[in-house]
Amino acid sequence: MDYKNIYIEEENEIAVVTINRPKKLNALNKQTILELHEAFKELDEDNGIKVILVTGSGEKAFVAGADISEFAHFSEEQGGELAAKGQEILFSFVANLSTPVIGAINGFALGGGLELAMSCHFRIASENAKMGLPEVSLGVIPGYGGTQRLPQLIGKGRAMEMIMTAGMIDANKALDYGLVNHVVPLGELLPFCKKIASRISNNSAVAIKHAIKAVNAGYSYDMDGYAVEIGAFGQCFGTNDFKEGTSAFLEKRKADFPGS
Ligand code: COA
Repeated sequence: MDYKNIYIEEENEIAVVTINRPKKLNALNKQTILELHEAFKELDEDNGIKVILVTGSGEKAFVAGADISEFAHFSEEQGGELAAKGQEILFSFVANLSTPVIGAINGFALGGGLELAMSCHFRIASENAKMGLPEVSLGVIPGYGGTQRLPQLIGKGRAMEMIMTAGMIDANKALDYGLVNHVVPLGELLPFCKKIASRISNNSAVAIKHAIKAVNAGYSYDMDGYAVEIGAFGQCFGTNDFKEGTSAFLEKRKADFPGS
């Protein structure tokens, strides 16, 4: 697929996906959502990519939300379809990806932008970042998982306040809330994310895939996270990565995981 609204850079087993509609503050229109789906799918299938970072182009916005101009005239039915399709191909898709995804929040992360960041496995923000779910100020609610993921990450009361006020919080408040794991100066955001990504990439990709599955199961209403963990733990024993990881430890050398 030829990408118009995103671009991908790859270096040392780390891919950086940049959403590139700076004049629209990287708002997620339909085309961008389709491109992101394709990019995440391709990168997840690429065994040479161990970690994916997602960020926005420019110095102002990560993503300023879903593109309001595209849905302002939608009917009830179209609104429901918009949320369902978006969750299926992007937001839940990213949350359940086998490859770790880190959200590098470099500015405004609003509405669908914060929902995309919350779909990532964890988030790191620059000092200038601002986050919020402003949907009720538009007469709608967060529809890309925001009403579920925000309370999971920061607690119900704080999430209710953020959603009801439609207000923004700054990066330090987001850190205090546990919405982001670290806050760094804007110029250091990608290098810092890459440093963490590189630590992740030294570990077993197969084990990480199972860990993501088990953690996510605990947040799913129809799964027993403990049972999923037991199953995934057992499956690890059948992998070449487990043989390599345990042998390397016993032989006092650094593991070189085959990724199978
Ligand atoms: N959808 C569509 N276009 C958007 C957008 C969105 N979510 N967010 C920003 N844009 C566009 C603006 O319409 C403007 O386009 P224009 O130059 O063609 O008029 C451009 O991006 C720049 O935005 P602007 O509002 O001029 O920048 P600002 O610095 O004054 O304000 C924000 C920045 C983020 C506070 C403001 O753009 C905003 O409130 N955006 C909407 C946020 C939102 O409600 N998101 C949730 C959607 S569900």
